[in-house]
Amino acid sequence: MALINLKDLLNHASKKRYAVGAFNVTSMTFIDPIIEAAIESNSPVIMQLAEVHFRYLNLEHIAPAIIKAAKEVDVPVCINLDHGHSFETVMRAIRAGFTSIMFDRSSEPLDVNIAQTKEIVKIAHSVGVGVEGEIGNIGGEAVGVAAPTPHAADIGSFTKVEDAVRFYEETGVDALAISVGNVHGTYKGEPNLDFDRIDKINNAIPIPLVLHGGSGISDNDFRKAISLGISKINFYTEMSASAVRTARNFLNENPECISYGDLSKIVQGAIKKSVKDRMAVFGSKGITASDKTLCISCDETSCGLEEPAFKPEAKTLVYDSLVELITKEVISHIGDV
Ligand code: 13P
Repeated sequence: MALINLKDLLNHASKKRYAVGAFNVTSMTFIDPIIEAAIESNSPVIMQLAEVHFRYLNLEHIAPAIIKAAKEVDVPVCINLDHGHSFETVMRAIRAGFTSIMFDRSSEPLDVNIAQTKEIVKIAHSVGVGVEGEIGNIGGEAVGVAAPTPHAADIGSFTKVEDAVRFYEETGVDALAISVGNVHGTYKGEPNLDFDRIDKINNAIPIPLVLHGGSGISDNDFRKAISLGISKINFYTEMSASAVRTARNFLNENPECISYGDLSKIVQGAIKKSVKDRMAVFGSKGITASDKTLCISCDETSCGLEEPAFKPEAKTLVYDSLVELITKEVISHIGDV
């Protein structure tokens, strides 16, 4: 099972009306609890590394560990670059074996965003890697020691339906992150999602929609957004805050503690709980529960997909197989000259 392409995974979620949680990894500590949560919940999962978090980790060092963990489990795992802002970062992620990349040029004018995203889609698709784009600006990605200043969504940056149609048609992205009242980090006041806009965008374009800024959104709002077409939900700040809270409580209760290993195990428990809770709310819990090798929903009669989404050989190219593929291509052409 293991590694899966974003397109296969989200198309299944979209068809079955659940959302796959995309959880940010900011250190090695996060890998095992996220994977364990997926196994225990019988849920697909997306693990993602955000470019803004590269200050905390080394992409090339941590990617092999995530890929190895993903390959060893029976649930589908997609590895995504979150908010890649440059061509170079996207290439590094593809080279490191990610099965999905988000290319975010939403701060640029739409024409520039379209032109640059289109190039990335061409390259990523040629090696079986899925692409998420963004239009309308969400902003405020979480970094820093203290809680980010709460901010409200800017209605002027909400995604326009006609822009979504144009962006989809011209770029060919596999999934689209939209701005509908969601913000990264901490919300100022209660989140006020524009459900009507989600519905309209979903009816206008045939690709799965992505909701960033999952922390702070209520369970009911998540369910409603999923019912209207959200198929991937990004979630980080609350998971991180819960890890820190747990560490603080543990150290207060055990001031004599000098074992980072023990502290880390305690923190991992909090991360796992946070992820499992979200999987239950997102409706991805139980999706892979079956004694069959495939997803419970993926026999043709019940699912209606042309191909099983979670078949083991799902289109996934890691760097080694990429080298092999290119070598075969080159050799096959040598005979022609
Ligand atoms: P939160 O940190 O607000 O949960 O958002 C995560 C996110 O959207 C990462 O792209």
